Amino acid sequence: MKTIGVLTSGGDAPGMNAAIRAVVRTAVFHNMRVIGIRSGYNGLIYGDLREMDITSVGDIVHRGGTILHTDRSEEFKTPDGQKKARNMAEIFEIEAIVAIGGDGTFRGAYDLCRMGIPVIGIPATIDNDVSSTDFTIGFDTATNTVVDAINKIRDTVTSHQRANVIEVMGRGRGDIALYTGVAGGAEHIVIPEISLNINEICKRLIQGRDRGKSSHIIMLAEGMTDVKELCAQIEEKTGIETRATVLGHIQRGGNPTVADRILASKMGYHAVNSLKEGRVNRLVSIRNNKITDCDIEEGMAMQKGFDTDLYEMSKILSM
Ligand code: F6P
Repeated sequence: MKTIGVLTSGGDAPGMNAAIRAVVRTAVFHNMRVIGIRSGYNGLIYGDLREMDITSVGDIVHRGGTILHTDRSEEFKTPDGQKKARNMAEIFEIEAIVAIGGDGTFRGAYDLCRMGIPVIGIPATIDNDVSSTDFTIGFDTATNTVVDAINKIRDTVTSHQRANVIEVMGRGRGDIALYTGVAGGAEHIVIPEISLNINEICKRLIQGRDRGKSSHIIMLAEGMTDVKELCAQIEEKTGIETRATVLGHIQRGGNPTVADRILASKMGYHAVNSLKEGRVNRLVSIRNNKITDCDIEEGMAMQKGFDTDLYEMSKILSM
């Protein structure tokens, strides 16, 4: 394999740059040419490509976002868009593509492999919702950002003896809310995996207040309910003044943590070594603390379990 492409697609995640760096430098080490495909699959459709070398990925291991830019390409989902992308890969003699992103990125990668272009997927999304891996690149940084916000919100909540509902991202998955709720000592965690019970929240808040608690934090995964409406209901039922905080895109930015930089570096290195060994159409993952890979089709068919134990523990520890 002489020339490979690398792209980032979907929502950016801290650590994507560290993964790009690892891909480029490992490939150069193996005497491969690397072409950076900009703005996800759109870059392949429109030929927005740049040759990369070891210096082009200098000074990025610590930066959030992605130097290749990213997009969620609607055009790539069409037969016409896919045909253009395949032609472009042929013109630039791209023999395989490393696709860094989440589920949507892997669906695109699977389309490429069905068109005869070998791929390797590297999971990177703050949501931690990729089934084939225990953890995705970006999740650790995002959860640290959220916990930092919880700590700050806790100060003002305690001062006023209020409640605060903090809405976090997750795209249908509760991992960000659950992990940060445990780490930030939230009094209640509302996630898609467990049905919302407002009376239960109110009961816990009232019991806490009666035991002398002066602050109440409720973590809410996005898409579950209207956060302001939830606050109004809690306030009405408990008499505890309740504010809403929507953290939004602050969760996606910032310098990647050490854990994300290491994970991204290992996954990028593993991806190119797999290509070098001729193991293609794979998804890189971390399972039981070990970097590994699986067949792309099998990986995409997997279902991600929910950490019921962690949720049950959070209920006991947050009393
Ligand atoms: O997948 C990452 C993510 O940040 C989700 O948590 C969120 O639902 C979505 O992307 C937001 O997308 P956008 O940046 O397009 O608003």
